[in-house]
Amino acid sequence: MIAPSRHAASPRKGWGARALSVALVGAALVAACKKTPPPPPTPDPTPSASGPVAVTPAEAAPDPARGKALVLEMQCNRCHDGTGHAAAAQNKHCVHCHKDIMEGRFKASEASIARWKPRVKDLADAPSLEAIGARVSRAFIESYLLTPTDLRPHLVASMPRLAITSAQAKDIAAYLAPEDAPPASREKAPAAIAGADLGKGRALLDSKGCGTCHTFSGIAPLTASPVPVPQDPRAFERGHRIAPDLRATRDRMSAARVVRWLKDPKAVKADTEMPTIPLTDAEIRDLAAYVLTVPLASPEAKPKPERLPLLTRKVSFKEVDEKVFHRTCWHCHSEPDYAIGDGGPGNSGGLGFKPRGLNLSDYAGIAAGFLDDKGERSSVFAKEADGTPRLVRAMLARHEEEAGAPTGPVRGMPLGYAPISLEDIQLVDTWISQGRPR
Ligand code: HEC
Ligand code: HEC
Ligand code: HEC
Ligand code: HEC
Repeated sequence: MIAPSRHAASPRKGWGARALSVALVGAALVAACKKTPPPPPTPDPTPSASGPVAVTPAEAAPDPARGKALVLEMQCNRCHDGTGHAAAAQNKHCVHCHKDIMEGRFKASEASIARWKPRVKDLADAPSLEAIGARVSRAFIESYLLTPTDLRPHLVASMPRLAITSAQAKDIAAYLAPEDAPPASREKAPAAIAGADLGKGRALLDSKGCGTCHTFSGIAPLTASPVPVPQDPRAFERGHRIAPDLRATRDRMSAARVVRWLKDPKAVKADTEMPTIPLTDAEIRDLAAYVLTVPLASPEAKPKPERLPLLTRKVSFKEVDEKVFHRTCWHCHSEPDYAIGDGGPGNSGGLGFKPRGLNLSDYAGIAAGFLDDKGERSSVFAKEADGTPRLVRAMLARHEEEAGAPTGPVRGMPLGYAPISLEDIQLVDTWISQGRPR
């Protein structure tokens, strides 16, 4: 719910029309977090009584009931459908609200909607988790929750790196995948694809429309042929966005599951946007065998993103505020007083994070720093071991997560969102080095 009355009651001097509507949305997003449950367990692997769900000792058997409770606590239902819990309310739901804006269901002035669209489009969709256990192996889900990778090249947003312990990942995977099947890469000569013809499989991938939606990295690019069945344009667009890179499929699905999927995707996952493409049993076998066994080139090593040198010109707070803090960061690090004590997941907690008390919506908030692991106020300008201010380190860490490089203790920011450009990070870096002028 947008809260115009609250906004009207707390006008701020000098705010222009743009800031005003940003504030409205901020209020909604922040209000969205109001009913966050008490802080969940910390990533500390020792059992803790601080959260409603105790941390599982590493050696305990996975507990799907605990996994189900964790899914609710970590608010997976603010982005994913099909979690087994009701969707979060529209005013809390990151994906539904953004999608409503994109598809014209959100009530606001035309000018605001037009301005918001380019901002919200990156997180206007996420794969539903419906029947994920009938497709993806439990081990894959478990490792993915701990180190999410970019499975869907056409989807800009990523699965955020949440504060999940390995025991919690086991519990969640056991809940999402009650029936397990080892992925094809661990199967020995699976019967489902015995005697298949890889050459025919490749030709079918190129001729049956598969390459129109799917990327398959590690082999020569697929041909984007027309999809041989009629499709609603919106469903097609969504299918294109949600289609995974087929490279990872061998580590996700068993051969029998891929065959079943290609026969009738909707019978496996009712809400999927993958169309049912008419194929014979032999064609399905050839396709599945190609997807699961064609030799892959090793992934291209992405260069480790480098911090750019400091600028020699002056950088004002107004510039970094407009380009970075009040554009992107503020949506999760807002002013707590503004919405009755809740400042979003990066301030008051949410998505399984304990409150960090970091308000990036104005100068004073940034200067006040964040709550460190001991719960003490710590400066976001303090230098890390490599001499980089914490704030800059967090933004660089997001580039490193995207490049698949191991990331240190500082979580990538903006969480799960496309990284801030190296040029904009350079601006913040320069502003800090110049003594953070107002
Ligand atoms: C802020 C939004 C957001 C939240 C919160 C979130 N996810 Fe995700 N998740 C995503 C996006 C976006 C993707 C797709 C990323 C990709 O495929 O590249 C994803 C992907 C996944 C996948 C992989 C799906 C597949 O087809 O293999 C799983 C599993 C998953 N999320 C589980 C969870 C669980 C469990 C939680 C809660 C603990 C959660 N997510 C919370 C956004 C979110
Ligand atoms: C009530 C609707 C609503 C909800 C709920 C919502 N958002 Fe947004 N979000 C918006 C609007 C509108 C904008 C664009 C506002 C602007 O920048 O002028 C936006 C912008 C953003 C941005 C800034 C993107 C950029 O351009 O850098 C991020 C990040 C973001 N949202 C993340 C989230 C996350 C994560 C959640 C869930 C925890 C969420 N939003 C929930 C409406 C919403
Ligand atoms: C309209 C777009 C579209 C087309 C065309 C399409 N797919 Fe898909 N495919 C998807 C989507 C979306 C998913 C993800 C399933 C989901 O989460 O709903 C998917 C999933 C898959 C998977 C499971 C991959 C994994 O790792 O989870 C395989 C295998 C697959 N498709 C193969 C094919 C083949 C082979 C063709 C051609 C015969 C094809 N697809 C055509 C959209 C498409
Ligand atoms: C989608 C929500 C979201 C967005 C957008 C976001 N943050 Fe965060 N941020 C969080 C959460 C959640 C935490 C707490 C993480 C934790 O406890 O490990 C956090 C913590 C932080 C911290 C302190 C903790 C640490 O480990 O360093 C810094 C600094 C930070 N964010 C900077 C930023 C900056 C800079 C931006 C904008 C470029 C940004 N964040 C955008 C959610 C977000």
